[in-house]
Amino acid sequence: MEMRYRNLFVLSVVLSLVSTASAQLRTDYYKNICPNVEQYVRDAVAQKFQQTFVTAPATLRLYFHDCFVRGCDASVLLASPNNKAEKDHPDDLSLAGDGFDTVVKAKAAVDLDPRCRFKVSCADILALAAREVVALTGGPRYPVELGRLDGRISTIASVQHSLPQPGFNLDQLNTMFSSHGLTQTDMISLSGGHTIGFSHCGKFSRRIYKFSPTKRIDPTLNPAYALQLRQMCPLNVNPDVAIQLDPTSPQVFDNAYFKNLQKGMGLLASDQVLFTDPRSKDTVNLFASNTTAFYEAFVTGITKLGRVGVKTGRQGEIRRDCTVVN
Ligand code: HEM
Ligand SMILES: *[C@@H]1O[C@H](CO)[C@@H](O)[C@H](O)[C@H]1NC(C)=O
Repeated sequence: MEMRYRNLFVLSVVLSLVSTASAQLRTDYYKNICPNVEQYVRDAVAQKFQQTFVTAPATLRLYFHDCFVRGCDASVLLASPNNKAEKDHPDDLSLAGDGFDTVVKAKAAVDLDPRCRFKVSCADILALAAREVVALTGGPRYPVELGRLDGRISTIASVQHSLPQPGFNLDQLNTMFSSHGLTQTDMISLSGGHTIGFSHCGKFSRRIYKFSPTKRIDPTLNPAYALQLRQMCPLNVNPDVAIQLDPTSPQVFDNAYFKNLQKGMGLLASDQVLFTDPRSKDTVNLFASNTTAFYEAFVTGITKLGRVGVKTGRQGEIRRDCTVVN
């Protein structure tokens, strides 16, 4: 081979290696395989959402938890006969069943079409379903990159230290998100997912009862809001009680979450710290004042989230049943 061409060849091999590291997702991946996949998922998710609002927060959080543990590979959906799968980890036990059910229903709708049957990955169906619930609750409808394969491994151990905790400070949040290629701005916009859905009292009870040896209530909490939270979450509260993450407009995907933070009404410590820490405050103020800026940043963030740890080729498969490996 002539020198010039050999260099070109080496260059193209190197480039293709670099691009497999982040996988080749495309918005038109199923164009010739299952051209109507987006409509099938859209209709199935809308139908499920009509039955229960919880569909929306449950599906969005499920997608986040899938992507942060072993990548966006639907590993979170795998059932385990002996309760040793991802979903059995304490951080995943609070994932609402309606999120799992949404994927099962969307998958069944896709597989009704003989052209599509067993050709669309569960990981992609979850990515599409997450977009649908954002749009159904009034958020942006954005293009979804597709072409993920489903993983074959799901263990409790892989969840440990993989998901952010509600008591995390800004450095801890940034460290965890940056390990997946997400910036602080991505992290803040994605935290805006807490504009819908609920949290159980235990995830923030420290903030209202035993913040520190000298302070019982977290001083970054709005005092009136803290008292309301104490009423809704008395000591020895029923562990099933769940509180709206965005008390202003709990069912709308808007920027009220960021306006709440400005008032000391972030429910989790990891929410409120985004406004308290001077390094992230300006971004919170921007998203609180400009919905378009929030939506644009959220679409960037969730698109990058969807590229985390994507599997291609022999790394994965297209699961026939989203709850078991083939
Ligand atoms: C930034 C770090 C994050 C932390 C510390 C965090 C933590 C939590 C916690 C503790 C809950 C309550 C769980 C329960 O008690 O049932 C929750 C709920 C939720 N999270 Fe996050 N989360 C984070 C980021 C995200 C991201 C990036 C998304 C998606 C874009 C997201 C979406 C949700 C949703 C939608 C709910 C409500 C779930 C429901 O109502 O079923 N969270 N989160
Ligand atoms: C809001 O943000 C968008 C997107 O970044 C920008 O184009 C627009 O000019 C901003 N609007 C205001 C009023 O600052």
